[in-house]
Amino acid sequence: MKATVAIIMGSASDFGIMKDAKELLESFEITVHVEVVSAHRTPEKMVAFAKSAEEQGFKVIIAGAGGAAHLPGMVASLTPLPVIGVPIKSSNSMDGWDSVLSILQMPNGIPVATVALNGAKNAGLLALRILGCSNTELRHQIKEYARKMEAEVESSQSKLQ
Ligand code: RP5
Repeated sequence: MKATVAIIMGSASDFGIMKDAKELLESFEITVHVEVVSAHRTPEKMVAFAKSAEEQGFKVIIAGAGGAAHLPGMVASLTPLPVIGVPIKSSNSMDGWDSVLSILQMPNGIPVATVALNGAKNAGLLALRILGCSNTELRHQIKEYARKMEAEVESSQSKLQ
């Protein structure tokens, strides 16, 4: 089956964080494709991936990287698909701000929807909402997810009493 969301990352070492997006999407039965694509170490692979992403049938791309995190922005510059960037506090990141700012501060014309540092779960949820724009059933499931979360918060509160 063709994957709907591509989850790419600069290194296999990012997967410890990026797996949260995979698990979240799979829990909603969204098919994902996971691949290591590095802006700096496999630049030609990155260009080929980004240029063919639409043709491959992906609807959303989630891209995670740490340090000098150029992957999400570069991919966004080569595809019309929405790109969600996940800044990662990696081994080469000074304090996480380098990853955040590299992904967040895009120039006018090329948007990347940046989530919080290590925020891969929210990247999955945002991808879900994008897919939900044209899928009523998915929107229903997203509302259900929010209701469950609300109930969990309430029950955690009651345990404090
Ligand atoms: C970045 O460098 C990757 O996205 C990763 O976050 C970081 C460290 O990569 P490794 O040295 O672990 O391969 O490009």
